This record gives sequence, C-alpha cells and structure tokens, in this order.
Amino acid sequence: MFDTDPAPVIRPAVLSADFRRATFGGPRRNSAPCPWVKVAIRSIPLRGVPHLQFSYFDERKNVTRNIPLTDASPALDELIAWAFGNIHITTAAEEIDLQISKKGKVLVRTKPVAVPTEVPIAHNRTKDHPLPEGKADRLLEVMGVMSAGGQVRATMRAKFTQINEFLRQLRHTLETAELLGLDRPLEILDCGCGSSHLTLAAHHYLNEILGVPARLIGVDVNQEVIRKSAAKAGKLGAAINFQVNPIAAAEAKPDVVLALHACDTATDDAIARAVLSGAKVLLCVPCCHHHLNTQLKANGPAEVLRPLLRHGLLLQRSADLLTDALRALLLRIQGYKTDVVEFVGSEHTARNLMIRAVKGEAPNDPRFVREYRELKSFLGVEPYLEAMIPVSRSAGELIAPIAVEESGAYPTES
Ligand SMILES: C[S@@+](CC[C@H](N)C(=O)[O-])C[C@H]1O[C@@H](n2cnc3c(N)ncnc32)[C@H](O)[C@@H]1O
Repeated sequence: MFDTDPAPVIRPAVLSADFRRATFGGPRRNSAPCPWVKVAIRSIPLRGVPHLQFSYFDERKNVTRNIPLTDASPALDELIAWAFGNIHITTAAEEIDLQISKKGKVLVRTKPVAVPTEVPIAHNRTKDHPLPEGKADRLLEVMGVMSAGGQVRATMRAKFTQINEFLRQLRHTLETAELLGLDRPLEILDCGCGSSHLTLAAHHYLNEILGVPARLIGVDVNQEVIRKSAAKAGKLGAAINFQVNPIAAAEAKPDVVLALHACDTATDDAIARAVLSGAKVLLCVPCCHHHLNTQLKANGPAEVLRPLLRHGLLLQRSADLLTDALRALLLRIQGYKTDVVEFVGSEHTARNLMIRAVKGEAPNDPRFVREYRELKSFLGVEPYLEAMIPVSRSAGELIAPIAVEESGAYPTES
C-alpha cells in the first residue's frame, strides 16, 4: 500500500490498547531538526496505568520518557514529523512495516504476528524462550550458539538453555524489583563475563526485544576473552562496555549485578560488589566452591557431622550447599530479600542453583544475624564473603535470647 502520510497508519496502531512496541529509525526523509538517530516506544503499565515509554537514542546516550497513553499524542506526532525512513510497529495481532521513500511515498506492509504452528510437544516451551530457536538469529549466530540456518549447535545446547533461563529470571526479577520503566537506562554489571554469552544476550533482550534501555558492562580478568567479547559486540553494533578488571575494581554503579558461573570466590566478589554498590538486584549462579571446602574438617568443631565430612565427595557437596546458604544469609542480613532457585534442570549443568536477591528489606535483622553466627561457629569456618560485607556488630548486640518457637522464631523461605 502506498500513501504519502504515515500518520493514519501509525497513530491508531500506537495509541491502541493492543500496541506492544515500535522502532523508528533509518534515514530521515525531511529536514525537520531532530537530535536522535533512533526512537523506540513500548507499552508499559506504571502503577496500573497504561503508559508509553519513549526511548530516544543518539550516538552516545539515550533518554527515556514515560507518558500516560492518554497524553502521548503530542510526543507521537513530534516523532512522526521527524520522518524516519524505517518504522516497525508490533501490536497484539499485527507486525506493521512502513518504509518512506526519498520522494516521501509510504510503503506499508502488514502481516499477522507469528504464532508457532505445530509445535512438537517436547519443544512446547520454545515459544516462551526469550531467545527462541528455529529461525535465523544474528545475535545467536555471532555468539556461536546457532548456525546460520537457525539450528542450535549441539555443543552449545546447554549454554543456550542456561542463557534463556537466566534471561527469564532476569525479566521476572526486574518486574518484581520495579526496575522496568525507569526514566533512565538500567545499568547492569556482568561479573566474570568470560565469552560474554550472557552479557550480549541480556543487552539484546532488554534493549531490542523488551525495549528496556539498558547499559551493559562486562568485566573479566582475562584479557583475551574481553578482546573477543568486544569484537562480537562490535559485529552486532551493541554498545557494551567491556573491561579487563577484577570484579571489585570494575568501573560501574550497577542497578543489577549478574554472575553466571563466576569461579569459586569470584561469586563472592560479585555478591560483595552488588551490596557495596547498593545494587537493587543480584542474580548469581555459583560455580566451583573451594574456599569452605578446605576449612570443613571431619575432626572439626561440628563433630556430629563426622560421618558426612569424612567422605571427600560428601564433604565437597556439603561445602557447596553451606557456602550458598551462608551467602544467602549474608545477603538477607544486608537487607536483600533472597531466595535460592533451580534455574535450569541438572541435565543442562550440575551448577544449576541461582541466588536471587532484591534489596528492600530492613538490614541487620537480628534473627538472620543470629542464624549466621550460630551456623558459622557450629562449622568452625570463616566465609570469604564476610570479610567484604561484615556482619554488623551492633546488629549482633541487639540479639536477645530468642526462645525457639514452634513457628515464627526464625524467618522462613519466602
Ligand atoms: C567459568 S567462566 C564463566 C564465564 C561466563 N560467565 C559464562 O557463564 O559463560 C568464569 C570467568 O570468571 C573470570 N573471573 C574469575 N575470577 C574473576 C575476578 N575476580 N574478577 C573478574 N573475572 C574473574 C574468569 O576469567 C572466567 O572468564
């Protein structure tokens, strides 16, 4: 369909309750002054009221404005007047592509939103994947996860699943923490990013799929992996800040800290980094645990555990679980609502526990301080993490002897 005015197509689509997201980019077709190279809009509910979030991008920064849907007409009209050449709109039912030629002619193409057909039962969850398989995807191809034809490489299947499930957790936790719909880009630090599969995928998922402006920082001590990661980001045109640095020295003020399989105490460094930066959200999937393993002794203070700790394999597994339990407790003491979830099935990785923490509780809850001190002294260990985020002495002093009740004396998992 050709016309010369795109507004009659754009306005009803964007201002309807069915609108999902849109991008305006490409060469502009008139000389109206415009400071932006791209503008994205997405539909978001804020405090239960439908809003449009406008994200304006230039070469170096972006600016976000949240406007109630009912008041969004002037901002949309201003955007239409800038005459971007390529416009893509997604509603609940349709994908709408508009291309404006140099002469101002508007070509409109519409197609129904793709609905997966005949999804094999075993792959039913595919449609829920943040990064679906089965169709060509430049991001996954550059990451080396998928072939050019859209097939996930057999050797990358486990990583593909981990990344998808991590992104699902990320979205869910950002919603819980009310971090979607900020009036500025989210700052996200990926600690021990390695080959940066998670960093690249999170950047793409938030900015391009969810339309949530996000700045990603990937940090790793290994210079070579950072060089390769930066090259991949360059191929994708993704402005990610990669740093060769220890986690503690990363230049960042993150809202969100991520760590996927950061080895041994690097996970503790990531947790400390989140706490010390005041990050609202931490998602970490711990990897190998060595630090506590070397401290737990069959002939140590916890004699009653001797039958468990005398077996190397059981000692190692106990050390893994205890390390994560103590980490979760330290986060609770710091005022993070914390839980531990299985983020993928164990067939995808044996390291499949995720510590999920959202800041917002009162810190130094004496019940958690007491639990922590009791467990530490029972085991006779000094967790690495505590050296970076000490347990408050004054909080400890607050502890009155607590009678152990049937319920309620100790906080339960929530
Ligand atoms: C097992 S790899 C995981 C990489 C990536 N997150 C993934 O899941 O594919 C762990 C990475 O953590 C990095 N690392 C370990 N200790 C670190 C520290 N203290 N600071 C920064 N990076 C660290 C290593 O160089 C390595 O690249």
